[in-house]
Amino acid sequence: MNKVDYRFLKACWREPVDTTPVWIMRQAGRYLPEYREVRQNADFLTMCKTPELAAEVTIQPIDRLGVDAAILFSDILILVEAMGLPLQFLESVGPVLDFTVTDQASVDKLFIPDPIESTPFVMDAIRLLRKELEGRVPLIGFAGAPYTVASYMIEGKTSKQFLKIKSLMFQQPKVMHNLLDKVAKATILYINAQIEAGAQAIQLFDSWAGALAPEDFEEFAVRYASQVFDGLKREGIPIIYFAQGNPAALEMAKKAGSDVIGVDWRIRLEDAYDILAPDVAVQGNLDPTALFLPPDKIKERVKDIMDQIDNRPGHIFNLGHGITPPTPVESAIAVVEAVHEYGKRS
Ligand code: CP3
Repeated sequence: MNKVDYRFLKACWREPVDTTPVWIMRQAGRYLPEYREVRQNADFLTMCKTPELAAEVTIQPIDRLGVDAAILFSDILILVEAMGLPLQFLESVGPVLDFTVTDQASVDKLFIPDPIESTPFVMDAIRLLRKELEGRVPLIGFAGAPYTVASYMIEGKTSKQFLKIKSLMFQQPKVMHNLLDKVAKATILYINAQIEAGAQAIQLFDSWAGALAPEDFEEFAVRYASQVFDGLKREGIPIIYFAQGNPAALEMAKKAGSDVIGVDWRIRLEDAYDILAPDVAVQGNLDPTALFLPPDKIKERVKDIMDQIDNRPGHIFNLGHGITPPTPVESAIAVVEAVHEYGKRS
């Protein structure tokens, strides 16, 4: 059961907390020397597919930073591979797919995989982590949202302008809708398997939906995030929807039906809170590059965000996007300490 007194889960449900909980997107990663050490002997995909290694690096930031939640070490592209598009992670390029989706025939070729058969290592890592983390912090499972996953399937790599996905969307909208529907169905099975294995909260990453105009955001991103949320066995499991880069779309993101909304740094958090609370909790929203400020200035930035919320219920502190590899570890520690200090309820 989930009813242990974890402050992260309480804040997701907008219940009272002893202090504000904090975790950091991409908290297991290359900014940590102990991560780089493991990574020296194994490539990224091998780490994702070896439950013991995935569990080890998942726990590193809990030990080192004192964050209030663990997030499974994996990648949103693991499901893309399981659906039939093999991928590689190239040093200094990032993920690259061997084939891409270009038309209805390539959508038809994709599988809706059984997660237990195609990605057993994900569920094994979750089970291992639940044992190791019991009584310390809850474990967040995750997947990419259909629009963001589809953007990789169509672009074949990280894109800046998204010309391929946007042309497909405008020139062959039916194909795009069929693709998004198929990804949503696969994502529902994938996340439900994570919940059954023991994930205690779920985050859906819509990292690239912010490149869409508001009306397209609603039709191609929110609609399919919402389809996923409707299919989840979510009782007792808070669902976080993170769609970075489009503050104008917060109102629509709220309509998707998650319990928490992840907010990036392009909007003041008090304005986001006014739009979102009290129906959903907010997660955010320090600019990840603010971690290059000196520690006393970082603390000022944290305090400003904390003052905007002023200990009202339903705030989980996080960065507005993932922590970057050159970040000093001390800066991440300073953020966690400052949140716990300024968030303390008397
Ligand atoms: O947050 C965590 O600590 C959990 C693990 C996690 C990773 N990727 C590990 C990772 C999570 C939740 C993700 C999600 C993910 N992956 C997203 C959505 C979040 C976001 O940042 O917007 C996206 C878009 C991806 C796709 C992806 N994976 C890219 C573009 C890259 C290359 C960029 C980079 O940072 O190297 C990855 C690789 C990746 N995923 C790494 C890690 C730790 C780096 C791998 C390495 O060690 O070389």
